[in-house]
Parts: sequence; C-alpha cells; structure tokens
Amino acid sequence: MKRKIVALFLATCMAMSMTACGGKDASADNASSNDAAGGDDAAADDATGGDDAAGGDDAAGGDDAAGGDDAAGGTLTVGFSQVGAESDWRTANSASMKETFSEANGYELIFDDAQQKQENQIAAIRNFIQQEVDYIVLAPVTETGWDTVLQEAYDAGIPVIIVDRMVNISNEELYTAWVGSNFQLEGEKACAWLEAYAEATGKGSEELNIIDIQGTIGASAQIGRTAGLEAAIEAHDNWKLLEAQSGEFTQAKGQEVMESLLKQYDDIDVVYCENDNEAFGAIDAIEAAGKTVGKEIGKDILVMSFDSTNAGLTDVLNGKIICNTECNPLHGPRVEEIIKKLEAGEQVEKQQFVDEEIFAGTEDVPSIKVNDTEYTVTTVTQEVIDGRAY
Ligand code: AHR
Repeated sequence: MKRKIVALFLATCMAMSMTACGGKDASADNASSNDAAGGDDAAADDATGGDDAAGGDDAAGGDDAAGGDDAAGGTLTVGFSQVGAESDWRTANSASMKETFSEANGYELIFDDAQQKQENQIAAIRNFIQQEVDYIVLAPVTETGWDTVLQEAYDAGIPVIIVDRMVNISNEELYTAWVGSNFQLEGEKACAWLEAYAEATGKGSEELNIIDIQGTIGASAQIGRTAGLEAAIEAHDNWKLLEAQSGEFTQAKGQEVMESLLKQYDDIDVVYCENDNEAFGAIDAIEAAGKTVGKEIGKDILVMSFDSTNAGLTDVLNGKIICNTECNPLHGPRVEEIIKKLEAGEQVEKQQFVDEEIFAGTEDVPSIKVNDTEYTVTTVTQEVIDGRAY
C-alpha cells in the first residue's frame, strides 16, 4: 500500500514536469500504471516494484526517482524473455544483452530462453511480474497473442520494452518502447539487389524460379521478408515463386525443407533464405544433391540470405551466398539507452528502427534504390568480415 502511494506521488510529480513519449498523452499515462510507458513512470515503477524485489525498502523508492537505484546497491533488475537459441544471430543477440545487463554494469539480468515457444515466454513474463522486476524486455517469437500477459505487466506497473521482432496488440500503451529492424525494408533491399544483379549480368528478362525458405511463421522477421519478396514477384512477370515453406530460422529445418524441394523441382534459380542458418542448411542440401551454389543465373542456384553474421558473410566471401542483407542483433546497448532515459525521467521514442547494411559477393551492383533511398552494397572481403562484431 505504502509503495502504491509513493508510486502515485512520483508519477504525478513527474507527469507535471514532462510530456509523455511516443506521442502519448501525459495525462492519460498518469491515470494508470502505464505511466512507465511514457518514460515518467520508470521512476514510479521502481518505487512500486523494483525496490521490493531487491529488498522491500520503500524508502529507496525516493532514490529511484533520482537515479533508478534501488536498495540493493544500485542494481536494476531486468527480466529478459529471449526467443531461443535458433540461430547465430540469436546467439549474438543474447550475448549483447548479457554483456550489457551485467552485474558490473549495475544490473541483475534474469535471462529466460523460451526455446521458440510463446507459452514459455508468457510463463517467463508472469514469473518476472511475480518477482517484481524493474523492467521486462521481450523478444517476441511471433507478433500476436500478447494482449493478456502485457496487460498483466501493465497492471503491475512494470515497463515492457520490446526488442527485435514486434508485437501486434490492440492497445499500444501496453509496451513502453520497441527497438529492432525494418524487416520489410530488408526484404525489399534484397529483391532490389536481385533485380539489379540480373540486369547487370544481362539476365534481366530471363525467367527466375524462386524458392522462399521462410522464417518462423508469424514472426515479424518472416512477415516482413516474405512481404518484400511477394511484392517483388508481383512486380516482375518473369519471377515465379515455386514454393514458400518455413525453415523456422534453423539450419536443420532449412536443410530439410531444401532437400524436399530439390526432389520436387529441378529448375530452381534462386533460394531466398530468410536467415543465415537456413542458408547454411540449404547450401548443404543443394551440394549434397549434386547441384552448385554460385553466381551464375541459369547455371548455379543463387542463395540469398539475411542477418550478415560472421559465418554468413564468410559464405558470401566463399561464393556460396550471393547476397546477404544485414539484420543487426546488437540490441543490448540500445535497450539500455532506453532504460537509462526512463530512469532519468526522459522521453523515449516509441519505435526505433536500426540502420542496416547490405552485402554481396560481387561488385556488379554498387548500390540499390528502395523507396527513393540509395543504399550502398558492400562487397565482402576478409577485412570487412574482420571488422564486424558478430
Ligand atoms: O528476428 C530476427 C531473426 O531471428 C533473425 O533473422 C534470425 O536469424 C533470428 O532467428
């Protein structure tokens, strides 16, 4: 009860001195525990929940208002529900979160690997709520199905930061901020590259038979990348989608899907893999079937990929992947910046897209244009790979 009074007092004071972030109405925010979503309430939330989790010291709620520190020596508790460990990208993403939210940096990170299952993520979030963490960070496996549990976090006054993929919920107030990739733009960039490459190599008018090995169905990364390809196929009379099947963002499933499709189709020109690990599996399947992956349309199977991890770019350098569109996993510092702003009572952007590159194994296409924006295509060299963090 005392905590609630402190929280209400802090929320009211802060709301009087600032506006809410993300275009939200400050007065609406303050009417409920979702004030945290506006940036103000991070302080209030520390008073309501985080302190007690650390030691039940309500007096420390006042300290939280000043700097986010709680009674346990300045430690903020962050519950992170991670999708799983399905890909190299995911491993880099988990490492980034663990490095950032370390004890040395003043955090207690409760890391939960959901093994690609939404029900595990929902259970983890309920557990974080019970533990009265200061912040919940969610990397959602799919976009839908979050309304109930995010309402529970909202009611508990715990700010939720969504990272990587998005959530599709009826009330946007249920989360504080999102940071991640523009997955549809990634797909559009990849297809713009394919079009330019076909033109540059004199094959612009040839028929292209394309296979889409999709990611986890319903994940933003799948939805956006598939949509990018579908739009390009619609726009090209000579591009044909032979089949789209999910490889669940894993190497094993990518290989399995490719093996089965190679038995059905003997005229595949392009395999559009929605992440690097699927591409690794698809390459293994293609080579095992006695076909070649490479750069020549009409002779080789062109493998396209997303993520641009170290191993993915190494396959570009080796001529196995022709084009690799980046999806940046280093979200730890980005999430921390949001939390620091909330702790300082500052506004945060509701949605932040990260800048991403595009890489190719040839110099034929120096740049591409998508929606009137020009993007440089980086030709992969060992130096390029060595200069990257993941
Ligand atoms: O949501 C990001 C996607 O998820 C990455 O492309 C993929 O590798 C990961 O598993």
